[in-house]
Amino acid sequence: LSKKEVTITFVKANGQRIQTKGKVGDSILDVVVNNSIDLDGFGACEGTLTCSTCHLIFNQADFDALPSKACDEELDMLDLAYDLCETSRLGCQIILTEKLDGLEVKVPATLNDARS
Ligand code: FES
Repeated sequence: LSKKEVTITFVKANGQRIQTKGKVGDSILDVVVNNSIDLDGFGACEGTLTCSTCHLIFNQADFDALPSKACDEELDMLDLAYDLCETSRLGCQIILTEKLDGLEVKVPATLNDARS
């Protein structure tokens, strides 16, 4: 039985759009890893909430539809992220639901530039 898939688009700071698919129940970090999405430095701690390189910015409607609120550990890590917004979350903490189909997330510039 294959799991349902949703479409997700990553919008890089340079305007490049990368559309891909992710399975319901996977985290956005899983999607980046499984599809070899080219986001330099993304997900350095492999989802253990000890980096902030998976920082993503959501639009308000998607943000409100996310299945979970940020826990204290995530909020602490977000405090360390550059370009923090009201609708910022850490991608490794976001589990895809069917409701999130068509999700579009902004990848902050500092994440792309970190190692260049
Ligand atoms: Fe490090 Fe998400 S991958 S906090």
